Amino acid sequence: MSPFRLTRTLPEDATDAALRADVLAGLSSTPKSLPPKWFYDARGSELFEEITGLPEYYPTRAEREILVDRAGEIAAATGARTLVELGSGSSEKTRHLLDALTGLDAYVPVDVSESALTQAGQAIVAERPGLRVHALIADFTAGLTLPDTPGPRLVAFLGGTIGNLLPAERAAFLASVRALLAPGDGLLLGTDLVKDEGVLVRAYDDAAGVTAAFDKNVLAVINRELGADFVPAAFDHVAVWDPEREWIEMRLRSRTAQTVKVQALDLAVDFAAGEDMRTEVSAKFRREGVREELSAAGLDLTHWWTDGEERFALSLSRVR
Ligand SMILES: C[S@@+](CC[C@H](N)C(=O)[O-])C[C@H]1O[C@@H](n2cnc3c(N)ncnc32)[C@H](O)[C@@H]1O
Repeated sequence: MSPFRLTRTLPEDATDAALRADVLAGLSSTPKSLPPKWFYDARGSELFEEITGLPEYYPTRAEREILVDRAGEIAAATGARTLVELGSGSSEKTRHLLDALTGLDAYVPVDVSESALTQAGQAIVAERPGLRVHALIADFTAGLTLPDTPGPRLVAFLGGTIGNLLPAERAAFLASVRALLAPGDGLLLGTDLVKDEGVLVRAYDDAAGVTAAFDKNVLAVINRELGADFVPAAFDHVAVWDPEREWIEMRLRSRTAQTVKVQALDLAVDFAAGEDMRTEVSAKFRREGVREELSAAGLDLTHWWTDGEERFALSLSRVR
């Protein structure tokens, strides 16, 4: 086996069909919305990496702090020989786990972003010649088939990305992860925690405007892939805290009344002045809620670690 393998689990036209279906459904609904996975072309993945270094964006630093402090405990508790990482992106924080998991045989990063997977996968094989790296270009919400690698498996889902799924999607997702796990396997889940509204809003609307550029990148993706004529400057990036649902919404707000055409869908979409289109939900969690959601999927929470300021949590759970 070559040291780095990249497998596309869906045919390329399946991505195209999914984008068309999502854009058609999202732009035809009221209020308008788009699923966040379409942010992540090569430019979107770069912008997300830039976000992780922003002074306002505490989640990456908080989660890294927990990994630095607890990777040894995680390794001892799981004894993992395969690490599967969903939404792995740059795999940057994952290095702490890879260092601690001394018996690791295979690393399986899974992401929709081919550029992020290739860059991260090639760097990791160069750093760790003994490790098999088998990257999967796949949608983690669409049912995964994992390569045949030795157990126990640890499935990591970091970065608080689970918060980008709506509650019903989260339940279906956790059940699908549970189905991938055998007795002795574990799920390591990163969840951002409920906190002061100002801190949360600033994390999604930074002063330098990087998150705004990331948000608007979805318009560039639709323009390129579906021949649309979105003018990114005709939309404002907005971050709003919803205290009832305990989630941040990122939205693009139309600056004027305008009509956008999407050639590939033969669609013309009217936006009113001030109309919002939701581009991402980022749910924030509490310990009890995480425990309940895991439990409903057949997973028992065994460990809960937070950073020193209790901004972010990593939990380990096991098949019941
Ligand atoms: C918020 S970023 C987190 C990246 C990294 N795990 C971290 O903690 O910094 C979300 C990552 O998940 C990927 N992603 C988003 N939706 C996805 C989906 N449905 N299937 C697979 N990957 C997805 C994105 O490409 C991106 O790399």
